[in-house]
Amino acid sequence: MTTPDPTSVLFVCLGNICRSPLAEGVFLDLLRERGLEDDFRVESAGTGAWHVGELPDPRSREVASRHGIDLPSRARQVTPRDLEEFDIVVAMDRSNLEDLQDMAAEHGGRARLVRMRDWDPEPGDGDVPDPYYGGDSGFDRVYEMVRRSSERLLEELTS
Ligand code: 4NP
Repeated sequence: MTTPDPTSVLFVCLGNICRSPLAEGVFLDLLRERGLEDDFRVESAGTGAWHVGELPDPRSREVASRHGIDLPSRARQVTPRDLEEFDIVVAMDRSNLEDLQDMAAEHGGRARLVRMRDWDPEPGDGDVPDPYYGGDSGFDRVYEMVRRSSERLLEELTS
């Protein structure tokens, strides 16, 4: 019997240093809890290139670390190839989603493009707000949104 291809999930925000690396870490943590790591490929990327090669923002690393999660991945920019390779690309906010939709309109791609809080039982305005210019509490709120949403997203992808 052959092993099915892993389901591939790419989390995308603007800089790939605050929200999407946290979403990547939280989703990987859920997979570990459930013993599903081998069934998924999980990465994150940014629509912008300003922070390429950098580790996540220390405030994202701190909130992750408080929840026992390491965030080792370095920032990279999303590419048209990602939209061909990944099964699902999860944008943090409407602006990220629109940038991805523009890229897909120009270059094509088979990925399903969605917003993270489509799965949040308390979705607010549907965006995971950019915490970059705010205080530390913004990062705690992002963590809670991303955790709630990831649990539902994983349920859907495994049902
Ligand atoms: P992120 O936050 O999109 O959640 O990674 C940001 C990080 C950096 C910038 C904007 C948003 N920036 O303008 O440099």
